[in-house]
Amino acid sequence: MIEINKNYNESNLETMARMPDNFIDLTVTSPPYDNLREYKGYSFPFEEIANELYRVTKKGGVVVWIVGDATNNGSESGTSFKQALYFMSIGFNLHDTMIYRKLNPIPLTHNRYEQAFEYMFVFSKGKPNTFNPIKIPCKTAGTVYNIKRPKAISEASKRDRDETMTTNNTKYKDNIFEYCVGKKQGTQTHPAPFPEELANDQINTWSNEGDLVYDPFMGSGTTAKMSILNNRNWIGSEISSEYCNIIEERIKIALEEKRKEKDLQAQTLFGNEM
Ligand SMILES: C[S@@+](CC[C@H](N)C(=O)[O-])C[C@H]1O[C@@H](n2cnc3c(N)ncnc32)[C@H](O)[C@@H]1O
Repeated sequence: MIEINKNYNESNLETMARMPDNFIDLTVTSPPYDNLREYKGYSFPFEEIANELYRVTKKGGVVVWIVGDATNNGSESGTSFKQALYFMSIGFNLHDTMIYRKLNPIPLTHNRYEQAFEYMFVFSKGKPNTFNPIKIPCKTAGTVYNIKRPKAISEASKRDRDETMTTNNTKYKDNIFEYCVGKKQGTQTHPAPFPEELANDQINTWSNEGDLVYDPFMGSGTTAKMSILNNRNWIGSEISSEYCNIIEERIKIALEEKRKEKDLQAQTLFGNEM
């Protein structure tokens, strides 16, 4: 059986080969795309990886696949769409196409609008087991309004009258999530870490404490760090040993933060008992 709460310095296909079927609750990952950046040890047999992800994902588990397209000879590659369609063809539901909007995209001089987003495809193996939505305040909270029911529905339901409804205090956030792109302490030597807040939001939305989160392209270890801070178990694969050193450093920092949090909780409890 594979050891959990551990990063493996190897190809993700090797790591997944040691996992049993239906093992992972949630995958949060951003693969290298379209040779856009030079990664050490770059290797990306997409279809094999997608097939393995389907096998190791639990029924009701989720894969969040964060990806964009390169522009080659004046045309966007469309790789992200092709990958999404492939995931669907092997049995995943395309549960949601979310957008990661970059609040500070790198300005490029070209003949199109600035590229300011990546896709966050949310694939599920059947209906997702977990959905802990982020809620935001309703601007019109408490407003009472009338609903006029169409006659046909009214007759069917034998409720041929208008009704009133009151707007709730909160509503579900929409599926465009905005983050500043920027390197956190400890990620300076990795070319493409995703924001910690992004990993935090996806982990909290699609998993619960104690669940097992996987990142097959661990990079600088953002998914591991945010899993630890959110009391999830985790596994990572990263092919470059240089990046694995960054991951180990960030894991140490996260475990230290967790230890301090526990000490503080114990002190508070002890204080209350006095
Ligand atoms: C876009 S980066 C991931 C960044 C990560 N989300 C973070 O926040 O740091 C992709 C990573 O995948 C690694 N990689 C590429 N092919 C791989 C493979 N087959 N198995 C494991 N890691 C791989 C690269 O070395 C690179 O660090």
